[in-house]
Amino acid sequence: MSKVYINKHPLVQHKISILRDKNTGTNEFRSLVGEIAMLMGYEALNDLPTEEVEVETPLEKCMTEMISGRKIAIVPILRAGLGMVDGILQLVPASKVGHIGLYRNEETHTPVEYYCKLPSPIEERIIVVTDPMLATGGSAIDAISQIKKHGGKKIKFMCIIAAPEGLKALEEAHPDVQIYVGHLDRQLNSDAYICPGLGDAGDRIFGTK
Ligand code: PRP
Ligand code: URA
Repeated sequence: MSKVYINKHPLVQHKISILRDKNTGTNEFRSLVGEIAMLMGYEALNDLPTEEVEVETPLEKCMTEMISGRKIAIVPILRAGLGMVDGILQLVPASKVGHIGLYRNEETHTPVEYYCKLPSPIEERIIVVTDPMLATGGSAIDAISQIKKHGGKKIKFMCIIAAPEGLKALEEAHPDVQIYVGHLDRQLNSDAYICPGLGDAGDRIFGTK
């Protein structure tokens, strides 16, 4: 089964609580999504391979560690996943960024694809898929299937809020994917919204409705 990492860090939990507040405005919401992504990215990338390189300090030469080999691709699920990209780019500025466009059909709650552009070649990259919300899991499952079709192998999925239903579905569909969750919420409602959740993440990041 997938490895699931549920975040417990007080800073992440504090920022998620502000996101949940319906009175938090677009500006602050957007900044917080980026900050949370950076804090979660710090954890999610803690297994990046490193190699010893020689560096000359002002005092002497030494062998020291730097990130090696495999490059990173960040792949946001449009739109809301875009809000998490800059936070991870601050950690790894050399990352490439792909995009997968999906939206949920409001009646069936199933994802509808409209765009896919990934860095090539993708096979050797560590791929971090971002979406603040994992509700039914349909969008994440679909996005990861598309990435695999293009040859993606080492995939991590990062979300800020997950519903138990979506987490289970994603684990079953893609057992090889590492899943990073900012907070595991109670359940979905009859409209497939996460409760207590934070509402519509895309609308709150971009100020639409
Ligand atoms: C939201 C969210 C996820 C998806 C989660 O996007 O950002 O992509 O719903 O739901 P699921 O797990 O049931 O698939 P939405 O479809 O509202 O599009 P948007 O990002 O353009 O607002
Ligand atoms: N998408 C969101 O933005 N929020 C939810 O609660 C569910 C899907």
